[in-house]
Amino acid sequence: MEVREAISRFRACRSFHGRPLEPDVLERILQAGRRAPSSKNLQRWHFVVCTDREHLTQLAAVGPFAGHVAGAAAAVALVTPEADEAWDRESIAFDLGQCAENMMLTAFELGVGSVHGTVYEQELARELLGLPDGFRCRYLISLGYPAEPDALTRPLRKGGRKPFEDLVHRERWSRRRPTRRGTASRSPSTSASAPRT
Ligand SMILES: Cc1cc2nc3c(=O)[nH]c(=O)nc-3n(C[C@H](O)[C@H](O)[C@H](O)COP(=O)(O)O)c2cc1C
Repeated sequence: MEVREAISRFRACRSFHGRPLEPDVLERILQAGRRAPSSKNLQRWHFVVCTDREHLTQLAAVGPFAGHVAGAAAAVALVTPEADEAWDRESIAFDLGQCAENMMLTAFELGVGSVHGTVYEQELARELLGLPDGFRCRYLISLGYPAEPDALTRPLRKGGRKPFEDLVHRERWSRRRPTRRGTASRSPSTSASAPRT
């Protein structure tokens, strides 16, 4: 599968078939996370892989939008070191996003559905995952073969992504009127050279 195809077709999957993931499939997904780039190549991440059904059911309680974990074939808890400085926290979060995307796009290529689960209940996650001091888990990734065959490739819902021209700036930030159809027009009063008001 071409990278661009995976990027343009990927959809979050929250409903899974009961079938377990084959060990080599799970390993390929984890290897893709391990391969991610990171600031100064620090690789500030560990992956706790959970496949036990009862454990997954317990983990689904770590956040109000993590219910999908209960039905997943596996959940990968993304564990990072705690950091005092905001700069470090942002850097870790940036790296982790790339790591997660690598895993999810690889899963997609293998026909495996995935979605993030944000951890709100930090202490519960710490206990369930047996995390040592100095580490935390902010996100889990649910993985599994999709319950519905077309779940991985269903079209984006209407308005599923902001229009290109509302996001992309040329040379300098420019203020444009957001449009509904992606044909953002720049009004004379908001051109890049116009004085800011
Ligand atoms: C940082 C982050 C946290 C997310 N947390 C959750 C979550 O807790 N529960 C959930 O169901 N989806 C979660 N998502 C998935 C988003 O809802 C999903 O990526 C977005 O709706 C786009 O879905 P689509 O690619 O199918 O259009 C999260 C995504 C990101 C990037």
